[in-house]
Amino acid sequence: MFITFEGIEGTGKSTQIALLKEHMLAQGKRVMVTLEPGGSRIGAELRRVLLSLDNRDLTPQAELFLYLADRAQHVAQVVRPALETGAVVLCDRFADSTVAYQGFGRGMDPELLHRLNEVAVDGLWPELTVLLDLDPVIGLKRAVARNHSEGKTNAEGRFEAESLAFHNRVRQGFLKLAAAKPERISIVDATGTPEDIARKVKALVEARLHA
Ligand code: TYD
Repeated sequence: MFITFEGIEGTGKSTQIALLKEHMLAQGKRVMVTLEPGGSRIGAELRRVLLSLDNRDLTPQAELFLYLADRAQHVAQVVRPALETGAVVLCDRFADSTVAYQGFGRGMDPELLHRLNEVAVDGLWPELTVLLDLDPVIGLKRAVARNHSEGKTNAEGRFEAESLAFHNRVRQGFLKLAAAKPERISIVDATGTPEDIARKVKALVEARLHA
């Protein structure tokens, strides 16, 4: 089973992925946690290029193709092989992030981005996408606090430096995607406690497993 987590910065995706992993391990499942950008060996190099504040001159088009390259490599070398062994794959961001950030955030055509995603994912779409939804005012505060405590204020954080208006467009983009694909994308309110949110995520996964 392939499950992706989406949402703007600071929605607690990695916390929820860790909690769901524990829950699934306790059920005797094999679980692999991965992320985009950076889930493959080559992807880790692309991630550094994509997120470095030194690369503020990266053009929107070049940025797009680096995210797509990361995805193609990740699907082929990491996600598909893991699924073929019967593992559950939990992925922090996937194709919807490209439509939300490069499309709704940067203004590129969402339909075109969907078609480019089709090339990158090569037929492998998630069975469930959990969209953690949060007001960017709260999300960015959390992300800045986290970056600060992890000491990565300079190396990573190109997107945290974007304006609130940008993150609002990204949030609305994710919500539009969820409205267009309700059979795959489920919205979870990310304002509650991590435990509350984890309960909702578990319920969605159980419903999907028994569908
Ligand atoms: P990351 O540090 O993983 O952010 P977060 O912890 O919020 O998930 O950085 C990933 C950044 O890359 C994030 O700001 C969103 C952006 N991104 C895109 O713009 N397009 C994409 O296709 C993907 C996968 C990520």
